[in-house]
Amino acid sequence: MAEKIARLTVDGLEGVIELPVYSGTAGPDVIDVRPLTGKGLFTYDPGFVSTAACDSSITYIDGAKGILLHRGYPIDQLAEKSDYMEVCYLLLNGELPDAEQKKAFVNTISNHTMVHEQLSHFFNGFRRDAHPMAILCGVVGALSAFYHDSLDIDNEHHRNVCAYRLVAKMPTLAAMCFKYSSGQPFMYPRNDLSYAGNFLYMMFGTPCEEYHVNPILERAMDRIFVLHADHEQNASTSTVRLAGSSGANPFACIASGIAALWGPAHGGANEAVLTMLEEIGDESRIEEFVAKAKDPNDSFRLMGFGHRVYRNFDPRAKVMKQTCDEVLHELGIDDDPLLKIAKRLEQIALEDEYFVERKLYPNVDFYSGIILKAIGIPTNMFTVIFALSRTIGWISHWNEFHSSPNKIGRPRQLYLGHTQRDYPA
Ligand code: CMC
Repeated sequence: MAEKIARLTVDGLEGVIELPVYSGTAGPDVIDVRPLTGKGLFTYDPGFVSTAACDSSITYIDGAKGILLHRGYPIDQLAEKSDYMEVCYLLLNGELPDAEQKKAFVNTISNHTMVHEQLSHFFNGFRRDAHPMAILCGVVGALSAFYHDSLDIDNEHHRNVCAYRLVAKMPTLAAMCFKYSSGQPFMYPRNDLSYAGNFLYMMFGTPCEEYHVNPILERAMDRIFVLHADHEQNASTSTVRLAGSSGANPFACIASGIAALWGPAHGGANEAVLTMLEEIGDESRIEEFVAKAKDPNDSFRLMGFGHRVYRNFDPRAKVMKQTCDEVLHELGIDDDPLLKIAKRLEQIALEDEYFVERKLYPNVDFYSGIILKAIGIPTNMFTVIFALSRTIGWISHWNEFHSSPNKIGRPRQLYLGHTQRDYPA
């Protein structure tokens, strides 16, 4: 498989160590460092900035060019021409579905949208003011207690059934988290609605009156799902792969992904964006916050700006920005004060030398937070919606991991602690 060889010499070690170099279909070549272990060496890469932890055929990102491909298809084309159900099929199966396959897939997902009635009792154990991500971590992990019939991870059919169940039940569970905190009754899913329409119905419908899904908001919701569906080996996906590598069941693995996503440096950023805009509060205070973000002695960062991989405009942010304009126009709230702050902030960051030099562009979470707020989704639900959308990515990577020969993940370390010493007499 290796066409090239990297040669390494190390002071104090005799000879040259030869390391195979592999080329993927796109992206940088990778050096296979496994022979180093036999020479008593490890590689050192905190934050995994230079480490390919696996091979994968699902998603490709070129951060410098601002390219994101799912199974080869550019994200902007998928956002424009496709929908979330199709993207789910694509990520999971590798190809776009034809009309029949899509119909069957949508039908399968619709038939799994209800959660076991017993699961709804779990919610009562949480405080009403619990963060919905805390509840979601718990109830998704708890799904493993309900579906013993499909937990053989070496069985392809079982793996697919788990994927369908997770994708189908996430909107139901996410909406239940919201309904529980607001004290309203849970709404059962409606399988005659689209995936996004059903989610809006379960969020905002009540048993007291009919709920009509606004098609613009339904399309916007679907786009948010599409744009968050997968993003290669990010922190939460790597967490799911690592948890999966031990043989843990898929529901537990997805719960671990939800936990990893929660942090403000990852999926928690969309919530953090809104919190930051509220804290800024007025256009007159923007300069002060920008100065704080630029101050090397201040840990404050502008939430929704920058990305580990993109050193160019996040291609998802471009589509999200357009959707944001459409939604705000439809809802007639172009003059929202927080939105004004957001637009000014965006302009400053795109022109300011500090941000330009470091290639810190607005990321997907900057705009998604604004859209979700406009739709009426409370801030603490933003990361839940990210988790809902990303479930297909997580489970596709988990499935890919288990579809080929694999090993338990076990990173090593550069030990800097005490060497052996005796317990005091
Ligand atoms: N505001 C101000 N300065 C920043 C920011 C920011 N948002 N992001 C990075 N920098 C600076 C940073 O201080 C450093 O400056 P210097 O070179 O002078 O020390 C430089 O830019 C490079 O930063 P870094 O920490 O090496 O970058 P990273 O790749 O480790 O971090 C990040 C990426 C996304 C964690 C970071 O940009 C950040 O904290 N952004 C805000 C949180 C956010 O919006 N996260 C959502 C990411 S998109 C959703 C997802 O895919 O999960």
